[in-house]
Amino acid sequence: MTALVLPDLRWFPSWAATVADFGDEVMHGSGSWNLDRPLEPTEASCKELVDVLAERVSADPDSGRVASTYFWITAGDGDREDEVIGFLNLRHQLNDWLLQEGGHIGYSVRPARRRQGHAKRALALGVRRAGELGIDQVLVTCDTDNVPSARTIESGGGVFEDVRNGKRRYWITPPA
Ligand SMILES: CC(C)(COP(=O)(O)OP(=O)(O)OC[C@H]1O[C@@H](n2cnc3c(N)ncnc32)[C@H](O)[C@@H]1OP(=O)(O)O)[C@@H](O)C(=O)NCCC(=O)NCCS
Repeated sequence: MTALVLPDLRWFPSWAATVADFGDEVMHGSGSWNLDRPLEPTEASCKELVDVLAERVSADPDSGRVASTYFWITAGDGDREDEVIGFLNLRHQLNDWLLQEGGHIGYSVRPARRRQGHAKRALALGVRRAGELGIDQVLVTCDTDNVPSARTIESGGGVFEDVRNGKRRYWITPPA
């Protein structure tokens, strides 16, 4: 139940349904900001994103972006028939902005699949992946008024540090 998969066109139909479901809502963790135009629920847009995200795994000094892995959250075990329901972005390092506000991990679950425990499980998987990268303390942040995200982080063992620039900042220790 709930997996992280690397972006791939094989999951286009449910990815498109997810993008359509978000509508105008920000797709945290999707990497849509790496494209020059808004994401659309089309195969061309999906392909463009898959190609760009594969390239963005490395740091990009020109834009100030750190190395990063983009995952799609799926509802099942991540096999070919699984269904994409959200996004998770794992930043491999913290630059100053990420340390103050952005954190290591950003995520979102499509509206139709919320409150089913997916974010909680996806965050745990993301924290595990961070640990595998050698990150021993994972910073996860949310807006002070984002109750669902704060609950998700606290459920995932987040230890509250402080609020900076309107963001609640938590640290999570990955499993050994
Ligand atoms: C935040 C978000 C990812 C949560 O996704 P989700 O799959 O619904 O979360 P889960 O079902 O795993 O629930 C996790 C916890 O949050 C709580 N929660 C979820 N939605 C909630 C809501 N609307 N109000 C109150 N609590 C809520 C759950 O009860 C659960 O807490 P518990 O373990 O103490 O019971 C989702 O609401 C979302 O995508 N929001 C928009 C994007 C966003 O804010 N991303 C985070 C940016 S840092």
